[in-house]
Amino acid sequence: MKKMILYATGVLIVVFFLIQLIPYGHDHTNPPVLSEPQWDSPQTRELAVRACYDCHSNETRWPWYSNIAPVSWLVYYDTVEGRSQLNFSEWEQGGRGEGVDEILEVLDEGEMPPFLYLIMHPSARLSDEELRAFRNGIANSR
Ligand code: HEC
Repeated sequence: MKKMILYATGVLIVVFFLIQLIPYGHDHTNPPVLSEPQWDSPQTRELAVRACYDCHSNETRWPWYSNIAPVSWLVYYDTVEGRSQLNFSEWEQGGRGEGVDEILEVLDEGEMPPFLYLIMHPSARLSDEELRAFRNGIANSR
């Protein structure tokens, strides 16, 4: 039994090191910021940066663990997929996606930021008051 556990642990360690060699998720490029919404106020932008920018802008912060598989895959996927649907840094280049109405919708449904992200980034959680301010601000930004 002891041997089995040792063996299984060894296999896991080898697999862990092997998956680090998979190139997927290593690209942590932040493309240039091309345009942004015309924010109604600096606060609205601050709230967006805090709660949304890691996945919906070209100013992603890549924490150390975003270099370590399998977390790196998740972070990478979120950023690529997130930017493709909404990118505050390419607002005039199609980054607005379906636009302000859709942003209000996901906020009202509590769909964004994603649950798992909030566990890892408690500071991205907006209080009720902040959420109201953000909602208002987004509605008044162009
Ligand atoms: C951890 C990364 C992450 C964060 C942080 C994040 N999003 Fe997203 N978002 C995604 C991903 C991935 C998608 C596309 C897949 C999906 O819809 O779940 C998405 C999709 C969207 C969409 C498109 C509609 C939809 O439901 O597919 C909107 C609008 C959106 N996000 C708004 C926001 C706003 C506003 C914030 C900040 C309050 C935010 N997101 C924070 C990852 C993120």
